[in-house]
Formats: sequence, C-alpha cells, structure tokens
Amino acid sequence: MEKNTYKLVVLVGSVREGRFGPVVSSWVAEQALAHGGFEVEVVDLAEFELPLALPAAPPKFAGADYPRPAGMAGLTRALDGADAVLIVTPEYNHSYPASLKAAIDWHFTQWTAKPVAFVSYGGAAGGRHAVLHLENVLTELHAVTIRDGLSFPNYFTAWTDGRPDDPQAAGYAKAMLDQLVWWAGALKNARAAAPYPA
Ligand SMILES: Cc1cc2nc3c(=O)[nH]c(=O)nc-3n(C[C@H](O)[C@H](O)[C@H](O)COP(=O)(O)O)c2cc1C
Repeated sequence: MEKNTYKLVVLVGSVREGRFGPVVSSWVAEQALAHGGFEVEVVDLAEFELPLALPAAPPKFAGADYPRPAGMAGLTRALDGADAVLIVTPEYNHSYPASLKAAIDWHFTQWTAKPVAFVSYGGAAGGRHAVLHLENVLTELHAVTIRDGLSFPNYFTAWTDGRPDDPQAAGYAKAMLDQLVWWAGALKNARAAAPYPA
C-alpha cells in the first residue's frame, strides 16, 4: 500500500459553544496522520450551514442536483471526496448531537459504500450510546461501520493538555485506523470496479 493513499475526513460532530470536540478531533487527526495510510482533512460541522428544514425530495433520489445551501458546499465536497470518514462525537441525551444528524440527512450518496469509524466521549458511557445510534443510522445509508473505535468515559478527568491520559489510547487508535484503511482500500476498489447496487 502506498503512503497517504486514502482521503480521510475527520468530522467534528459537536457545534456547541465551549465544546470539547475540537480537542478530541485534533488528537485523532494527529493519530491518523502518524498512521501513514491517509491524507487527513479535519471537517468541523460548526463551519457550515446546516438547517434542519430539508428540501421536499430526499437526497437519495436527487443525486448531484440536491438543492443544498451554499454554506454547506465545503462539507458536501469533503464527504464526496472522502474514501473514509472518522466521526468524532459526544453523547447528548444518550444519542449523538443534532448537528451530526443534520449533516447525515443532507447527504446520501456521499456515504454509500464508504467506511466510517467512530471516536466518542462523554460521561460514564464514554459516548457509546451515540455510536450505537450512528451505526444504526449509517447502515441505512449503505456505509460500512468499523468495529473498533475509541471511547473516552468521563473525558473531563481523562485528558491533559489536549491528549488522553490513557497510555494505551494511541494503540487503540492504530487498531481502529488499520481496520479503517483496510476497508477504505477494499471499498474504493469495489466502487471503481462496479457501481454499488443501491
Ligand atoms: C444536551 C446535552 C445532553 C447531554 N447528555 C449526555 C448523555 O446522555 N450522556 C453523557 O455521557 N453525557 C451527556 N452530556 C455531556 C456531554 O457528554 C459533554 O457536555 C460533552 O462535553 C459534550 O461534547 P461537546 O463539548 O463536544 O459538545 C450532555 C451534554 C449536553 C449539552
């Protein structure tokens, strides 16, 4: 495998004022760059227009003509070009934030036959409820979810100076990224070989 072959989008899922998401995302992006298998782009949902009101037709049928707001174009472009996506999500009320749901719902083909991995954080459950819901939703969009991920319970006592205290965290990240790069390659080849039947 060539170095930096696959385009990875690290998606910052929370847009809340004072959010912790960018801290986790920066560290995750650093791990992904060090891994060597990816070109890494951090895509922060806070930088895009993400209205809750959707157009009349679902994006599944509208294809490239889907009438998205101009302020969403950068997000759509990044998802279009991605070979893999790594979602960084907190847990809000035992699920993931509305910002992420909006970003998912405004797109469809951008997720199809692509691998998606997860890094979560939160209170006692470490954001695992959010990841379980994301796995369920992304399956509907024909994405392939990666089994291994990272979860940071009680992150407010588990991170120092922008890095997790757990010395094993980098190893867990590598395991996840190894699986993600394998799927990125397998699915990129498969998408090139034949149109996905959806
Ligand atoms: C609306 C809301 C609901 C929350 N619900 C949960 C929850 O169900 N489980 C949990 O572990 N943490 C919950 N939290 C705490 C978040 O995990 C914590 O605030 C975290 O910092 C949010 O990520 P962010 O800072 O990137 O927005 C909630 C926070 C908010 C704002």
